[in-house]
Amino acid sequence: MATPSAAFEALMNGVTSWDVPEDAVPCELLLIGEASFPVMLNDMGQVLIAASSYGRGRLVVVSHEDYLVEAQLTPFLLNAVGWLCSSPGAPVGVHPSLAPLAKILEGSGVEAKLEPEVKDSLGVYCIDAYNETMTEKLVKFMKHGGGLLIGGQAWDWANQGDDERVLFTFPGNLVTSVAGIYFTDNKGDTSFCKVSKKMPKTPVLVR
Ligand SMILES: *[C@@H]1O[C@H](CO)[C@@H](O)[C@H](O)[C@H]1NC(C)=O
Repeated sequence: MATPSAAFEALMNGVTSWDVPEDAVPCELLLIGEASFPVMLNDMGQVLIAASSYGRGRLVVVSHEDYLVEAQLTPFLLNAVGWLCSSPGAPVGVHPSLAPLAKILEGSGVEAKLEPEVKDSLGVYCIDAYNETMTEKLVKFMKHGGGLLIGGQAWDWANQGDDERVLFTFPGNLVTSVAGIYFTDNKGDTSFCKVSKKMPKTPVLVR
């Protein structure tokens, strides 16, 4: 992969603000390893969007699924699918749970279609982080060069279940952990998120 800072710039090209939906409370992402890097952080250093690579593929993780269906985030979403796609011209597949995203992408001239299953013919696949049935297929897809855009939050999920090992049992983590990114059960604060031109440094997390 090119350097993380080049990747960061590709993801942030033309993004001037983080106009995220206020009623969507995200979760903090935990980054481990050298491949993963932060894309969106708040003023307290919580990572809310991150990216990484795995095998021949790439990954962008957003900490609330609503971030993937909001038209106000279109510039970032276009950058993300562009950066994720390693085979130019290959279509973007969107899981039906994120149907509005297919419309947003199509509206900007990106070939996107609803796909209930991930297929190797797709350049990028977009899905929420709650699907338990597809985790192995998604990891394989990335390994073989696919780009994965995935979003969800684990704090609400953790509150509903009695399993406290969110890092190891939340469905999204079974996918993103291979690339060093974890959804946590900490709520993320979005009141102050500034857009940085250079890749922000992540604080070392002691948990
Ligand atoms: C997971 O994805 C499969 C295949 O698209 C679908 O049949 C199933 O309903 C999804 N489950 C959830 C919880 O979204």
